[in-house]
Amino acid sequence: MFTQKPIILAPMAGLSDRPFRRLCRSFGADLCVSEMISAKGLVYGDRKSRILLAPDKSDRPYWVQLFGSDPEIIREAAQIALEAGADLIDINMGCPVRKVVKTGAGAALLRDPERAEAIMQALNRAPAIPYTIKTRSGWDAKQTTLNLFIEMAANHNAMALTCHPRTAIMMFSGRADWQQLTDAAQDARLPIISSGDLTDPQTAIEALARPGMAGIMLGRGSLGRPWFFREIKELLQKGTGWSPDPELKRETILKHGDLLKEEYGEKTGLLLYRKHLAWYSKGLSGAAAFRKKLFTLTSFAKLESAIHELFFDPV
Ligand SMILES: Cc1cc2nc3c(=O)[nH]c(=O)nc-3n(C[C@H](O)[C@H](O)[C@H](O)COP(=O)(O)O)c2cc1C
Repeated sequence: MFTQKPIILAPMAGLSDRPFRRLCRSFGADLCVSEMISAKGLVYGDRKSRILLAPDKSDRPYWVQLFGSDPEIIREAAQIALEAGADLIDINMGCPVRKVVKTGAGAALLRDPERAEAIMQALNRAPAIPYTIKTRSGWDAKQTTLNLFIEMAANHNAMALTCHPRTAIMMFSGRADWQQLTDAAQDARLPIISSGDLTDPQTAIEALARPGMAGIMLGRGSLGRPWFFREIKELLQKGTGWSPDPELKRETILKHGDLLKEEYGEKTGLLLYRKHLAWYSKGLSGAAAFRKKLFTLTSFAKLESAIHELFFDPV
């Protein structure tokens, strides 16, 4: 499907939504993963889950992430997602957030490998569902399950496995253990994708080049920086650094606001836009004052002049 190893937007709840996926695609993301969607929610017709599932025409092939703990519900939800236009289903076996773990989903599956395997078996049953797994290195340092999950995923015909090589209890502290992932990837019988701490183009390229690595996912490094994909590709293909000029940044930031408004309407769109603007402003002089002011601005129109002041008319 790709001439080079894919550079992928990671699933991020509340963030890798249709607007952000569209922006990242426009800057060369080869694939994007949706926000995680509740398998139960889809099966029981929850409106919010159905809205999350709707595809965006710019985001093809469409890779939808589901979370859940019941193998049959997950299979049924995957079928619903395929009927709605998904091309590939990812199963979340790594989210350490309490709300998810207490339902037996996400990282809870790292402590229940039999259930994780039953989910893979259900998806692999004829007619098989095209699916991938996203996981962490284990629940804690004493329970490293990465090799076991790679083995199970290969046995049950998953198309790839992504690993964020931190344990669940680390959440986002410490560093991703790339060496552990590289060691595991070398013997793997399915493509392994690396996720975690890729925040500059050079590091991302090095991660792509590691033996056994079939692709990389970018998460936090892409926030306030949807052009990160192009930065990596330019360095990879031409060997020279690239960064967007102020005009392209300006267009992108404003476009992001338009997309959010169109997707969510004025009220919710504004809440989400403020969050992204805080990331866009990182590192700029005057950013702290801008971020404070952001939360007092109650319309897109008011935001726009503040954006111009900070990003485009720096004093
Ligand atoms: C705000 C936020 C939301 C996330 N939501 C999800 C999610 O829905 N599903 C998932 O598998 N991982 C989720 N992750 C984990 C990321 O996909 C990624 O694996 C992790 O952030 C490490 O990559 P990074 O260092 O590039 O951010 C989330 C991470 C963040 C920061």
